[in-house]
Amino acid sequence: MINVIIFGSPGSGKGTQSEKLVEYFDFEHVSTGELLRREIHADNSLGRTAKGFIDKGQLVPDELIIDIIDELLIDRSPCSGIIFDGFPRTIAQAEALDRLLARRNAKVDIVLNLNVPEEMLISRLLNRGKDSGRSDDNMKTISNRLKVYYEQTAPLADYYRKAGTLCDINGTGTVDGIADEIRKAVDTVRANYPECNKAPK
Ligand code: AP5
Ligand code: MG
Repeated sequence: MINVIIFGSPGSGKGTQSEKLVEYFDFEHVSTGELLRREIHADNSLGRTAKGFIDKGQLVPDELIIDIIDELLIDRSPCSGIIFDGFPRTIAQAEALDRLLARRNAKVDIVLNLNVPEEMLISRLLNRGKDSGRSDDNMKTISNRLKVYYEQTAPLADYYRKAGTLCDINGTGTVDGIADEIRKAVDTVRANYPECNKAPK
C-alpha cells in the first residue's frame, strides 16, 4: 500500500490536487476535513463536536481524528494507495499514523508539501467562500486557521524532512502544472512497489 500525504496550509490546494491524483492513479482520497463535514451534515454527535472547533478555525482533538483514521484503515487492500489530505496536522497525529501503518507493514512513502504565500491563500479562500457554503471560509476564521497552521501543523514539515519523505512543491502555478510535478514525484515512489504498478487510469 502506497501512502501519500498531501500537506500544506489552508487553501494551498490539497483537495484540488488530491482529486487530480485520484483521476490518474488508483488511489483513495482520505480528507479528514471532508469526513468531518459529512458528520456535521448528518448532525450526529461527532459532527456537533467537530463543528464547534471547525467554526472557530481550531483543530478537532487528536483522539477523535486518530480513531477515525484507525477505523478507516481496517480492511484496506494491500496494493491500493491512499492520499491523506489534511491529516496528520499535529506531531501526535503523525506519530499515531506511523504506528497505525507499521501495524499493517506499511509506512508514509512521500509527503507533498505545497508551498503558497499567505496573501494568495487568503485570496483563494475568500474567493471560494463566496459560494462554497463552508462555514470556515470567512476572514475571521481564515486568520485563525492560518495561525493554527503555523503553530501546530507547520512543524510537521521538519518531522517528515528528518524522516526523508518530504518533497517540496511550488503550489503557485496552474492546477495542471502543479499536478504534473506531483505526479512525477509520486511516480518515483511507485517504482518501489512493482506489485502495485497497475497502469495509470
Ligand atoms: P480542511 O477541510 O482540511 O481544510 P484546510 O486544511 O483548511 O484546507 P482547505 O480544504 O480549505 O484548502 P485545500 O488545501 O484543500 O485547498 P483547495 O484545493 O480546496 O479542514 C477544515 C477543518 O477541519 C480544520 O480547520 C479543522 O478544524 C478540521 N480538521 C480537518 N482535519 C483535521 C485534523 N487532521 N485534525 C484536526 N482537525 C482537523 O483550494 C482552495 C481554493 O483555491 C479552491 O477554491 C481552489 O479551486 C483554489 N485553487 C486550488 N489550487 C489552485 C491553483 N493552483 N490556482 C488557483 N486556484 C487554486
Ligand atoms: Mg481541502
